[in-house]
Amino acid sequence: MLQSAAKVLSFASATSVSRGIAAGIRHYCKNTPTKLRVSQALSGAELGSNIKVQVSSVYWLVFSGNCAYLCDQTCRRNFSSFAAKLTTMVGWVRSVRAQKANVFLHVNDGSSLQSLQVIASSELLTFGSAVEVTGILKKSPHQKQPVELDAKQINVVGECNPVDFPFKIKERHGLEYIRQFPHLRCRTNAFSSLLRIRSEATAAIHSYFKDNGFVEINTPIITSNDCEGAGELFQVEPSGPDHADGENFFSVPAYLTVSGQLHLEVVSGAFSKAYTFGPTFRAENSQSRRHLAEFYMVEAEISFTQSLEDLTKVMEDMFRFATEHVLAHCVEDVDLFHKHVTPGHRLKEYLMSFLRITYREAIDILRRSSERFAFPTDWGCDLKTEHEKYLVKHCGNIPVFVTDYPYDLKPFYARDNQDHPERTAAAVDLLVPGVGELCGGSLREERLNLLSARLEEAGLEDVYSWYLDLRRFGSVPHGGFGLGFERYLQCILGVDNIKDVIPFPRFSHSCLL
Ligand code: 4AD
Repeated sequence: MLQSAAKVLSFASATSVSRGIAAGIRHYCKNTPTKLRVSQALSGAELGSNIKVQVSSVYWLVFSGNCAYLCDQTCRRNFSSFAAKLTTMVGWVRSVRAQKANVFLHVNDGSSLQSLQVIASSELLTFGSAVEVTGILKKSPHQKQPVELDAKQINVVGECNPVDFPFKIKERHGLEYIRQFPHLRCRTNAFSSLLRIRSEATAAIHSYFKDNGFVEINTPIITSNDCEGAGELFQVEPSGPDHADGENFFSVPAYLTVSGQLHLEVVSGAFSKAYTFGPTFRAENSQSRRHLAEFYMVEAEISFTQSLEDLTKVMEDMFRFATEHVLAHCVEDVDLFHKHVTPGHRLKEYLMSFLRITYREAIDILRRSSERFAFPTDWGCDLKTEHEKYLVKHCGNIPVFVTDYPYDLKPFYARDNQDHPERTAAAVDLLVPGVGELCGGSLREERLNLLSARLEEAGLEDVYSWYLDLRRFGSVPHGGFGLGFERYLQCILGVDNIKDVIPFPRFSHSCLL
């Protein structure tokens, strides 16, 4: 029993309990005589010489010397106690420090930033190697860690030559340096923190939608439509001599999706709230700090909308929910970023307020500014990165919604505001500090006559006859948006280059691994 409990505590800190620990405690508690069921480990604290981890609103797990016991909140009633036993843990050596008779290792298994301190006698252990350690878990005399493992046996599962290994002990390598090693960079603290934050943010986004009545739809990755009615597609055909006859595999040209929007619109003919979260592909010949050829997009579609505010509210709420979740559940990982990787980043200010301006107001701001822009700022011009950056700065470095763009700038599905003479469409972009455009969305043109006129003008009426059907049968006012997930991570962590927030970046001229 203690073995699993000890394993659990191997990553505990005195003040917080990581997800890995929570899972371990659940496992431990399931096996206790009390048959305790625990949904989550709540918090941890140090009680005099004991370590106390709260595992439910009622039960605490207390480690005292080499014993562990379950008790109630007052710590008076012991439900069960266990004698010390040998425990085994596995992981990779993150640091080695020799001192007098002992060697102190930090061993990490990826479940949290915290490593377990192992006291060993062998000096043959090297930074980066994989080990299996068996020993006795005991209270640590050092303040930095609540417990440490007194090793009785260490099995080196996989050696690591520290001279050849590209990461050096005690060195803080920059994101640009570690990016050169896509197959090894998850072994650094910075990138493993990023991957845990990414996983937690993904879970938070799904929770937000689930909690708010959205149905998740798996929109296809291979599609025969081009969502925006233009460009940047990867075509999909089989490889190999059996398929060299020039025929399309699907009998029509097929592509990797650039957006799940049109499929979500199909579904929103029967579901008032739907979303999708998956990989998206754009053959953009760009090596910029905010473009990838494969990225993840969160897309939502809402039926029976009244105005753009129905959409901006969801974007803002989702941003806040996911960010607050990450801040609460990835304290150490976010701290590492804000202290050592991207110091000076001011995330909390973004959570205070979001601003709304119209495209017209944005153009006025740009035209009044004394800044020299490379691209024109006349009404009707697209907002470029330089404009987006200026607008965000001008508005006080907080997220800014820009609404009601010129009709001609937006794709065929954007709803006509019919506000002559300017003629705008009910479209919105969310611009955020450090990144620029994070979300793009619009109300969709639900009026059959207006939509078919626009498709006819573009010569797309036949291709999109199925899309017109959606307006023929039970059409409702609806709208949606897409959020670039990597840009979201860049924004909350202050990461300059999008290639540093995705496990395996794909961009023009680069598809490593
Ligand atoms: O503004 P976009 O192109 O919107 C759409 O695709 C809509 N059909 C979405 C919808 O309404 N359902 O893309 C949405 C977001 C952008 O704001 C940006 O954050 C991100 O996707 N994005 C990219 N991220 C990384 N690399 C790229 N090449 C990206 N292109 C767009």
